[in-house]
Amino acid sequence: MDKRRFPVSVLGMFAAGMMAFAPGDAVAAKAKGKELKISKEGQACLGCHESQSPSFVKDWKESRHARQGIDCYTCHRAEPGDVDAKKHYGYTIAVLVTPKDCGKCHASEVKEMTGSHHAKAGDILDSLDNYLGEVVGGPEAATVGCVQCHGSKVKVLANGSLDPITWPNTGIGRINPDGSRGSCSACHTRHSFSVAQARQPEACGKCHLGPDHPQMEIYNESKHGILYAAKKDQLNLDKRSWVVGKDYTAAPTCATCHMGASAGQPSTHDVGTRLSWTLRPPISKKQENADQKRAAMKDVCSSCHSAPFVEGQYKQFDDLVSLYDTKFAKPATAIMTELAARGLIKQVEFDKKLDWTYFELWHHEGRRARHGAAMSGPDYAWWHGIYDVSKNFYTEFLPEVKEIAGPAFYDELVRKYLDTDERHEWYTKGMSKEQLEKIKKYYQERYGEKLQ
Ligand code: HEC
Ligand code: HEC
Ligand code: HEC
Ligand code: HEC
Ligand code: HEC
Ligand code: HEC
Ligand code: HEC
Ligand code: HEC
Repeated sequence: MDKRRFPVSVLGMFAAGMMAFAPGDAVAAKAKGKELKISKEGQACLGCHESQSPSFVKDWKESRHARQGIDCYTCHRAEPGDVDAKKHYGYTIAVLVTPKDCGKCHASEVKEMTGSHHAKAGDILDSLDNYLGEVVGGPEAATVGCVQCHGSKVKVLANGSLDPITWPNTGIGRINPDGSRGSCSACHTRHSFSVAQARQPEACGKCHLGPDHPQMEIYNESKHGILYAAKKDQLNLDKRSWVVGKDYTAAPTCATCHMGASAGQPSTHDVGTRLSWTLRPPISKKQENADQKRAAMKDVCSSCHSAPFVEGQYKQFDDLVSLYDTKFAKPATAIMTELAARGLIKQVEFDKKLDWTYFELWHHEGRRARHGAAMSGPDYAWWHGIYDVSKNFYTEFLPEVKEIAGPAFYDELVRKYLDTDERHEWYTKGMSKEQLEKIKKYYQERYGEKLQ
């Protein structure tokens, strides 16, 4: 039996008698026809909560936790001195059950998660996005928007209850009153805490979608997502061992590629271990130990694909990243820096249309293109991607720069950043005669139409 399934610390707790029940304790609940062995305190909780919160109790009863005697009190118990402890009908409980609490039994998952970018997602206070959210938009919007994905800093009020501006919240990088980071129920919805549910793409889709990181939409349009929709019931999502290529072969989900085990890779709660790029900043950045991380991802692909096929996909992906970076992102970023250096724009203040235009160029459109290329979503790579990037760059960004810079400085910028790259010639010098003729001919042959 996998050691993770019976964490050493749990066995330790049994041995030390720290848990408030012993085998053979009175039995008050049943699940799937089996009697559950739970603590006296746990029974008291159920006494009220069977009627107070029937849906939670039902989910819990069907969970693997219930079958192991891990009850309401095991998770919600608190010591009187805990920051978030609260008196509750004669018991001391905490509403929050943080990674620190889960970590008593699941140390390795908590360690991996805590070391990952997910656990850092609550640190957005000083970001440009946060300025946009808190100041340009408004804090009420950040409460129901940003921090529901990224995580709030949960505050305990003087009376021991949780500050409603910061709770409810299951943001992935939640900053908890006990100092721990993250929220395990971001993916493992309570109270089933089911591994099967977390393995589905929908578990990630609460956060990984939309104009700036449409991984869910990309997945849905990819062959992988199509196969998932067709063959979900063949994925053995509830199986304990879930090694791709061995326990299932029908399709990869987000969890397969970013977290799941393969022949050569252990499963992990650090979703960054297989990424060679970070595509989040205006100009893409290679991760530390990028080759090693890429090799780990390729090992997953190789459970189903041949090596040349996988190499081909990575070549196409890298080329698109380079196209976006060198043709659009670098010149646009350099031009913004030059305008700021001359005091023509106050960089990062969103008071001019150009700030928004540039922001969308990299933060929305440029990310979409790169994410589409990374995960085989052609519509995002092109129509929602480089198509939008080019349209923005040539018809919004450059004209707005021209207006702000004035003709002389604009010409200087064009000479420096566009004329040095022949891929912009079509714009600076116009389409060549031969090109125009070819296109006209194509439409004439195809539709018998004359192009103006
Ligand atoms: C005497 C009945 C009773 C018992 C015993 C009881 N609860 Fe509750 N519990 C309630 C009620 C009623 C509420 C709803 C509180 C409200 O609406 O103000 C509640 C709410 C809660 C909440 C949410 C509190 C919040 O602020 O959102 C948690 C967590 C909880 N109970 C856990 C437990 C645990 C764990 C036990 C066992 C140690 C337990 N309860 C025992 C009646 C009970
Ligand atoms: C495996 C640990 C675990 C067990 C077992 C558990 N809970 Fe919870 N419970 C949680 C987590 C996690 C949350 C969400 C708090 C957070 O995000 O930190 C929560 C939240 C709650 C809440 C408040 C949130 C809401 O939606 O109202 C109630 C009430 C509650 N649990 C009741 C129960 C009851 C009743 C039982 C027993 C049937 C139980 N819990 C068993 C982990 C657990
Ligand atoms: C007192 C120990 C203990 C605590 C606390 C605990 N767990 Fe567990 N958990 C277990 C054990 C034991 C199992 C394995 C059950 C089995 O193998 O049947 C398990 C299984 C799981 C699984 C796998 C479920 C599945 O469908 O296979 C998940 C996910 C999980 N726990 C998440 C959590 C989260 C999240 C928390 C905190 C909110 C938590 N656990 C708190 C002991 C604990
Ligand atoms: C729907 C969920 C969601 C909302 C709402 C959301 N974000 Fe994000 N945010 C994400 C995800 C997912 C990523 C990671 C995207 C990726 O890696 O492709 C991210 C990335 C970021 C990053 C980049 C972090 C880095 O390491 O480079 C910052 C900063 C950020 N978000 C801040 C904010 C702020 C501030 C708001 C509100 C104004 C906000 N986000 C709204 C989900 C969300
Ligand atoms: C980003 C989503 C996500 C978050 C956040 C997350 N998990 Fe998981 N968890 C998963 C997925 C997906 C699996 C299944 C992985 C697999 O089968 O390879 C899983 C599996 C597990 C298992 C079963 C491990 C086993 O060997 O079967 C446990 C236990 C668990 N998680 C605990 C936790 C705890 C504790 C936390 C909080 C620190 C947490 N998870 C946070 C997605 C998540
Ligand atoms: C509650 C929101 C939320 C959920 C659910 C969520 N994520 Fe994330 N994820 C984020 C945010 C926010 C970031 C960006 C964190 C940062 O950089 O600060 C992120 C970043 C990532 C990254 C980039 C990590 C890195 O090191 O650069 C990957 C990969 C990822 N998530 C995969 C997943 C997968 C797979 C799932 C589902 C199993 C998932 N996420 C579920 C919010 C979420
Ligand atoms: C077939 C495997 C596969 C599947 C399925 C998959 N991804 Fe990815 N994902 C990748 C690859 C490959 C990359 C790029 C890796 C690199 O940087 O080398 C990536 C990159 C990412 C990133 C990093 C983006 C950034 O801005 O740096 C996030 C976040 C992410 N994926 C989330 C998801 C989510 C959420 C899902 C499901 C909706 C998903 N992925 C499905 C393979 C996959
Ligand atoms: C569980 C098996 C499995 C895993 C793991 C997997 N794939 Fe696939 N992939 C498939 C299948 C099946 C198809 C569909 C082939 C077809 O078009 O008939 C596919 C299709 C593709 C396509 C073709 C897309 C298209 O539109 O024609 C690419 C590219 C691809 N995968 C790349 C990858 C990469 C890169 C990884 C790893 C990051 C990966 N796959 C992981 C099974 C898998």
